[in-house]
Amino acid sequence: KKSVDDINVKGLRVLCRCDFNVPLKDGKITDENRLVAALPTIKKLIADGGKVILCSHLGKVKTEEDKLTKTLAPVAVRLSELLGQEVKFVADPEVVGPNARAAVEAMKDGEVILLENTRFRPEETKNGEAFSKDLASICDVFVNDAFGTAHRAHCSNVGVAQLVDTAVVGYLMQKEIDFLGNAVENPVRPFVAILGGAKVADKLNVISNLLEKCDTLIIGGGMAYTFLKAQGYEIGLSLVDDSKLDYCKEMMEKAEKLGKKLLLPVDAVTIKDFPNPIDAPVEVEVYDADKMPADREGCDIGPKTQALFADAVKTAKTVVWNGPMGVFENPTLAAGTIAVAKALADTDATTIIGGGDSAAAVNQLGFGDKMTHISTGGGASLEFLEGKELPGVAAANDK
Ligand code: 3PG
Repeated sequence: KKSVDDINVKGLRVLCRCDFNVPLKDGKITDENRLVAALPTIKKLIADGGKVILCSHLGKVKTEEDKLTKTLAPVAVRLSELLGQEVKFVADPEVVGPNARAAVEAMKDGEVILLENTRFRPEETKNGEAFSKDLASICDVFVNDAFGTAHRAHCSNVGVAQLVDTAVVGYLMQKEIDFLGNAVENPVRPFVAILGGAKVADKLNVISNLLEKCDTLIIGGGMAYTFLKAQGYEIGLSLVDDSKLDYCKEMMEKAEKLGKKLLLPVDAVTIKDFPNPIDAPVEVEVYDADKMPADREGCDIGPKTQALFADAVKTAKTVVWNGPMGVFENPTLAAGTIAVAKALADTDATTIIGGGDSAAAVNQLGFGDKMTHISTGGGASLEFLEGKELPGVAAANDK
């Protein structure tokens, strides 16, 4: 794909779509990884003398009240600090209305502005023409660096790209495509994929696609219990999706047919009552996977499983991980997720972490700098692992 390295933006108005959809608490950004990840492209556009117009969505905007809490103003403040240069926030209820047009008009080369949350325009999520045209009308060049949004076909990443003469990808988008794409399509083997998280239903196509691509597929987290039940085990009060039992059997048969290793938990850390709040103290008991009592709930992989999974990772050359192994928000139920993070941190393999919960877990647990790549995309990285072509990636079509 053509990137920001292939164009000359000197003196041009560059609209750069980023994913600044960051968690906010009382107006404060609680995880700024997506901002930090966007800096290389923004710095490059500044250094090349472009007039840099940043845009992004933030959260879901359904009501007028949402607009009060979902303004991108705090992002402009933090970005200014991170860049060491002013990022002027353009408060414009129409996103691209008179205020934004005036701000763009007044820009000098190398200056940066940030437009208001693109979802303040209801057409944004419908990829409506009017807003796409508005966005296209204020720029000469479009750069898509919003990997986290690449699974959406919205005005600010797809519609606008189709209307401009020049549309390329930024460094972050390029890096995400290179790492995730290479890991799945062209991995250095052995390739081990680790999946966790609560629901099988969220990962149906990921499991199926990765089974074809990897050498070993490891399944932990809440979704493993549906697999264990499909094998005929008692799983007590553990999370289960009974409508997916046949699917799990099918996947186990598929693994066997393809000669792939499919590793499931062999023991579980169980509790009686789910902690409320989630990090409240809990009493745990560990059982082998075939001896779980009917009145307990599995909430983490046990020590034997930790060793089994860590062992599988040891000889790997490529590891992709998406989804925690247990209720890692609770310190008593985090050991499995920590063990997997540690196993990845200790290997020389290329280690790629899918976004969302697993990225948060790895960063929170302090293993962030030990991984080769931590994706900024939650839904987007999952769809990538499904082998799908993402609309946001397809639309930045080398123009
Ligand atoms: C994400 O956080 O996954 C992306 O920013 C997309 O957000 P969305 O799910 O609200 O479209």
